[in-house]
Amino acid sequence: MWSSRRFTMASISGVLQATMTVVLILAGFIVLFLMYYKSSPSPKCYPRPAHPGQLKKPVLLLWFWPENKRFDFKDCKTLFNIDSCHLTDNRALYSTAREVLIFHKAIKDDLSNLPSSPRAKFQRWIWFNMDSPTNTRQIKGIEGLFNLTLSYRKDSDIQVRWKLGTEKASGDFVLPKKERSVCWIVESSELLNKSDDRFNYYRELEKHIKVDIFDSSSDELVNGENYFQTISSCKFYLSFEDSIHKDYITEKFNGPLAVGTVPIVLGPPRMNYEDFAPGNAFIHVNDFPDAAALAEFIQKLDGDNEAYMRYFDWRQFYTPRRHLTDQHQFALAICQACRHVALHRVYRVVKDVHKWFFE
Ligand SMILES: *[C@@H]1O[C@H](CO)[C@@H](O)[C@H](O)[C@H]1NC(C)=O
Ligand SMILES: *[C@@H]1O[C@H](CO)[C@@H](O)[C@H](O)[C@H]1NC(C)=O
Repeated sequence: MWSSRRFTMASISGVLQATMTVVLILAGFIVLFLMYYKSSPSPKCYPRPAHPGQLKKPVLLLWFWPENKRFDFKDCKTLFNIDSCHLTDNRALYSTAREVLIFHKAIKDDLSNLPSSPRAKFQRWIWFNMDSPTNTRQIKGIEGLFNLTLSYRKDSDIQVRWKLGTEKASGDFVLPKKERSVCWIVESSELLNKSDDRFNYYRELEKHIKVDIFDSSSDELVNGENYFQTISSCKFYLSFEDSIHKDYITEKFNGPLAVGTVPIVLGPPRMNYEDFAPGNAFIHVNDFPDAAALAEFIQKLDGDNEAYMRYFDWRQFYTPRRHLTDQHQFALAICQACRHVALHRVYRVVKDVHKWFFE
């Protein structure tokens, strides 16, 4: 009996103990739940976005349309599969914009067309310039305004240029039909009275070899789709840059590469070109002592199909891509800025944008 009573007492305290444990665990859960519930945002303050995720994307405000070349921001998705920011040209969104993209050429000398309201702590301004230093004017007062740079230079925060695709080419390369030997698209008035490196070289070259000239200011054959057609109909194309600077290698080089024509380049040294394209894809004017020697080489190559075709060997490994023209001329730069700002959020100041760019 005693033992059974003791047994009963023990079993009662056991039940009590178990009950207490359950109650404590439940209380713990309730406290945790309350803590969670208190800290989670009230649904009233944050209505569900119409498109989930959209509100999370950083707003990138394009302050000026470069050279008035407007395009649909949705094209970033369709052309480059870039969809990581909320691109807008609506200046009313200035205060919420995390980044503001400012096209250098459009800035007025007195800076009066820059944003005038103070910028938020988190906001970064991006200096946007695709020209070379020779073609860029210095604007007093902009030196300390920017947080990021976007240009053709490899040491920019956001570097923009076409790179050759590296996937294996689909199918064998077929040389497009050629109707001309050496071609050049250039403004005819400049051809008449300009005398920088490229025109001086051209004047020497044309003494020894015929060059087909297309006037970039008037010729129908250089607009839109015709531009690629025209270059493609030539065996060689004069990819002469208008000024010579490291990394300043433009669409003048990309155009012929993309359409199956051999570029003859004048610009930074060969090594710099080889940062962007295989060395056997182009002819550099510096490979020859003078224009006469280059002309002789081109003439030989013109008559030797096997040697000429070797300039396309690289196509087994690389797929070139056309650059965008006309209204989409700046689309790649703008879309890349969008991609960059969504991925990189460091605090940064460009101390003196002029010093960096012009030295
Ligand atoms: C260059 O030549 C063109 C002729 O095609 C002429 O109209 C123009 O005024 C010239 N420009 C200069 C700066 O001499
Ligand atoms: C951006 O640059 C400005 C001016 O140099 C500077 O005052 C600001 O703190 C920078 N902001 C960020 C987010 O990097």
